[in-house]
Amino acid sequence: MTRIYARPLSPRFLTSPSPIERNKMLNRITIPRWFDRHLHIRDSEMMKTVLPCTLKQRATGAIIMPNLADPISSIEKAKAYRERITVVYQAHAEGTPGYYSRFEPCMTCYLTDSTSPDEVVRGFQEGVWRAVKLYMANQKGQGGTTGSAHGVKDLLGRYPVFEAMEKHKIPLLGHFEAVEEDVDEFDREIVSVDRDLKPILKSFPGLPVVFEHLTDGRAADFVAGYGCCDEHATLFATVTAHHLMINRNAMFWGGMNAGHYCKPVPKRESHRQRVRKYVTGGHRRFGAGTDSAPHDEQMKSRCYGCAAGIFTAPTAVEMYTTAFDEDNALEHLGAFLSENFLGTYGMRVSSEQMTIERTPLKVPVKVGAVQVFKGGTELPWKLVG
Ligand code: DOR
Ligand code: ZN
Repeated sequence: MTRIYARPLSPRFLTSPSPIERNKMLNRITIPRWFDRHLHIRDSEMMKTVLPCTLKQRATGAIIMPNLADPISSIEKAKAYRERITVVYQAHAEGTPGYYSRFEPCMTCYLTDSTSPDEVVRGFQEGVWRAVKLYMANQKGQGGTTGSAHGVKDLLGRYPVFEAMEKHKIPLLGHFEAVEEDVDEFDREIVSVDRDLKPILKSFPGLPVVFEHLTDGRAADFVAGYGCCDEHATLFATVTAHHLMINRNAMFWGGMNAGHYCKPVPKRESHRQRVRKYVTGGHRRFGAGTDSAPHDEQMKSRCYGCAAGIFTAPTAVEMYTTAFDEDNALEHLGAFLSENFLGTYGMRVSSEQMTIERTPLKVPVKVGAVQVFKGGTELPWKLVG
């Protein structure tokens, strides 16, 4: 008797959606200088190493994350931190004439269980900070990401702060990920949407909220569909370059890859595609926030307790451009990088321009002791001026 073999099914290849026809004709794009809506630059020597990367990327400014070892949780700390940033910026600007005309470090207040509504409002009115950053910690005082252990344990207890923020239109920048140990790592974001975000939005409909580093397709659907219309939108989302480029396989393929580990962790491919559909489709509630988060090699190479964070600052613009190009959507790049919901942070669209050209660019492997995301590979776009 002849045996009948069942053929193995051919693998379904999981890559970026392939555009029907790439816009190969477009080789040069000029857009307003961009704004990084989510950036970690740390302090001291590390800041001197990494801040110039964002400056060279022509950002007009950045929302500076407050999760230092000693969190930026008061007006005094935020002022002092801004001073230190300004010193590094000025030293770099003096050494690099004509590179860019200015860089605005937009400070954020690290919300703790004891931050008072008064301090939040005063810091905002005095122009010290532009927004409040929400990290959450569990009852054991464990945060879900780097520098979040001082985060909020009692969200309901923070409602008086949210009420004051709603009144003064102070944006809440939320790291929405459930921090209880028993929640599956890949569901942390969507669990937090239901558990934390929805009640906040319901209680404070006028509070501007930015959903930080969004990775889950269900969360993207929620942000895109929330509220009556774009004109009255109060909910926005930042999306990183790395979450547009990799899915969760990248953490494990060929061995454990600490360089692809960040929080929120990259999700499965279908989520990446769903998020990317909104971003490169030109949805105005999504904007660039790199979450570039430098850690030195030692912190990233621990077998246990490897630090979460991906460092994209040196080539973030080129990475975003590559994603839009792959989706044949370069016409939406400028809004995503340089326009969408900038008013929420009190920023305007820049009157200065930057130009990106279709020219190969080698991503540096390292900056100081920090490994760069996709270091050593080549990108098809280069920021040229
Ligand atoms: O991957 C991350 N790294 N996610 C965060 O939320 C924090 C950041 C960091 O500070 O390293
Ligand atoms: Zn971050």
